[in-house]
Amino acid sequence: PLTPTAALVTRARARGRGVGAFNVIQLEHAQAIVAGAQAANAPVILQVSENAVRYHGALAPIGRAVLAVAEGATVPVAVHLDHATSTDLVAEAVSLGFGSVMFDASTLEYGQNVAATAKVVARCHAARCWVEAELGEVGGKDGVHAPGVRTDPGEAAAFVEATEVDALAVAVGTSHAMLTRDAALDFELIAALREAVPVPLVLHGSSGVADQDLTTAVERGMTKVNIATHLNAVFSGAVRTALAGDASLVDTRKYLGPARTATAAEVTRLLRILNAA
Ligand code: G3H
Ligand code: ZN
Repeated sequence: PLTPTAALVTRARARGRGVGAFNVIQLEHAQAIVAGAQAANAPVILQVSENAVRYHGALAPIGRAVLAVAEGATVPVAVHLDHATSTDLVAEAVSLGFGSVMFDASTLEYGQNVAATAKVVARCHAARCWVEAELGEVGGKDGVHAPGVRTDPGEAAAFVEATEVDALAVAVGTSHAMLTRDAALDFELIAALREAVPVPLVLHGSSGVADQDLTTAVERGMTKVNIATHLNAVFSGAVRTALAGDASLVDTRKYLGPARTATAAEVTRLLRILNAA
């Protein structure tokens, strides 16, 4: 069933488990992620990014589809708006019934990030919506990888206190959109952030993290683990194989179906690595 993000993430943090948060672009992504979560018997987060909304031209069609997929699931599924910079889009997600939003003001300097985030938090909390924010920019969305950026634990604690955010995305060595899984995570910093910050921590750019390091990151204190690029690689790889094998193939189900199946299997595998069940 559709489940509030707050419930899902709070429970996972208390038990030292990870929560997989996977990005949805196509409907097939949502179906694959839920099928994979059901096979792992684990809760999961479906997230739609502002970039994906830009691709579709609107939030409602894909957002309503994702909510419907979540409602039909046999495991708890939360629906989240990812990397929003538009407060109008945040408001629309809240009114559609999304359980949470990430408001990303990480490119602003500290004081402006605090002010902008606090405003969004106040509005979202009035509507019982959970808010994630980011401190210390995790680069790579623009193709510029900046794995060297780090979030300071003291500043992170002050940021959470000042904004009252429910979860915090931190920079600990990852970078968005990596195709190789060789990011060097700063595990000592993760442990220090877990000590200093009273809310769940979010790892962005997790496609670049090797299996064993994902497990260790959760052990040291990361809770919500965002994975997008890696699943797209699996999905697109299966599409490529299906199309390459048959030049007369035109029915979209014949290549999107295998892609969905392959993605579901990878989600199941990842959820086990994150100790999410
Ligand atoms: O917000 C989404 C994630 O940070 C995804 O990053 O595409 O590098 O896995 P990724
Ligand atoms: Zn991200």
